[in-house]
Amino acid sequence: MSRLVLAGGTVVSAEGSFRADVAVEDERIAAVGLDLPRDGAEVVDVSGARVMPGFIDGHTHMDMPFGGTVTADDWDTGTAAALAGGTTTLVDFSLQDVDGTLAQAVETWREKAAVARIDYGLHVAITNLTEDVKREIPALPGLGVSTVKIFMAYKGTPLYTADEDLFEALQIAREAGVLVLVHAENGDVIAKLQAQALARGDTAPRFHAATRPEACEAEATNRAIRLAEMADAALLVVHVSCAAALEEVRRAHARGATVFAETCPQYLVFTVEDLARPGFDGAKYVCSPPLRDASNQAALWDGLKMGDLQIFGSDHCSFNLAEQKELGKDDFTLIPNGAPGVEERSAVLWTHGVREGRITENLMVAVLAANQARVHGLAGRKGAIAPGADADLVVWDPELTHTATQANRHGNVDYTPYEGMEFHGGPAAVYVRGTLAYADGEVLSPPGTGRMVARAFERPPAWAVR
Ligand code: URP
Ligand code: ZN
Ligand code: ZN
Repeated sequence: MSRLVLAGGTVVSAEGSFRADVAVEDERIAAVGLDLPRDGAEVVDVSGARVMPGFIDGHTHMDMPFGGTVTADDWDTGTAAALAGGTTTLVDFSLQDVDGTLAQAVETWREKAAVARIDYGLHVAITNLTEDVKREIPALPGLGVSTVKIFMAYKGTPLYTADEDLFEALQIAREAGVLVLVHAENGDVIAKLQAQALARGDTAPRFHAATRPEACEAEATNRAIRLAEMADAALLVVHVSCAAALEEVRRAHARGATVFAETCPQYLVFTVEDLARPGFDGAKYVCSPPLRDASNQAALWDGLKMGDLQIFGSDHCSFNLAEQKELGKDDFTLIPNGAPGVEERSAVLWTHGVREGRITENLMVAVLAANQARVHGLAGRKGAIAPGADADLVVWDPELTHTATQANRHGNVDYTPYEGMEFHGGPAAVYVRGTLAYADGEVLSPPGTGRMVARAFERPPAWAVR
């Protein structure tokens, strides 16, 4: 039996922080308490550090075909970058083939994930909601999949889903115990605005934001929530980018609706001005929903603080500038949407949140781990430092500082949007199921060590959503 004790640190949970040792036995947490017996265990002195549950990122896109290309990070490089940010579990989107089944999507993604360095779960992103696919949704929990994503945006691609289908999917999902994730932007309005912009000759990256206004996201957010309420289904609105959309989530919570919502690091540290960087550099910041003006950032911090935004995911969807983002050199609508962020997610939250007094370290653990586990169906196994849970642990050094640059990133992208940004706090060491997976800037966990974790969604009572 292997035994490890992380001794003398401050354990940070979603509820509070306290001095305690953490004992690990055979991949699981065996005990948490003061002065735990050593009994011949390997003892690691972590005094001065915070000990946090391994972070969960419920929103990544590894090795995913999108926008005429495939994301730059696969499961090897993407999970290396995740580890460098203290993330020990991803939930990634298996993308349904337009002519394929949901089960085939899961199978394809399991094959891609064979090189994962950390544990993972899988959503299915629905690209073609046929009658057969509707009939297949109830089988997903049997495959360990508790979530599907439906897109109200990307009109003109198979991803786009009309209201009647979204509504029916919500009804089916409610019965099946599946949580629907929604990309809430009005696809029809975007398509019209994009066509009008191109007709005017407005082809630069900054028109990506101009053709996806805040109202477009707010309207779709409200519509998705109302559809979910009519279907009596729970809903997760992913990548909330602006105050207007958040306001719709807040109103839903005031009505007692079971609505979860996520925001992402890019919306807290970048703005629409980044899309207007000289030359074609704005393409590095093209993601959807788009970056907004800075006035939205305070609202998003408030949303995290007040519990309207319960989770903080990266939406890591990386494309190289060369040959990938460049597909849209003469037409912003052809720039593949997405940005890397799986590595920076936790440092953004510590640097700009905890360190600047906007949130507590406990809220950080809530939105990176505990709430992620609850929403994404991993509770009990992941997201908490408690006896019986997997020993996924982050030894967080609040004094660590580093400046992000492309060369010191652990992923596979030819740029970082965070270039030159100084971060405070970071993982000194990361354990996945009790094994040291990352230390002092080096990824130690080899490809292929990650395991798929079966997930099950449990709908909480509405009052417990926040
Ligand atoms: O721009 C983004 N967010 N790309 C990834 C796909 C999605 O909509 O999440
Ligand atoms: Zn999306
Ligand atoms: Zn995404």
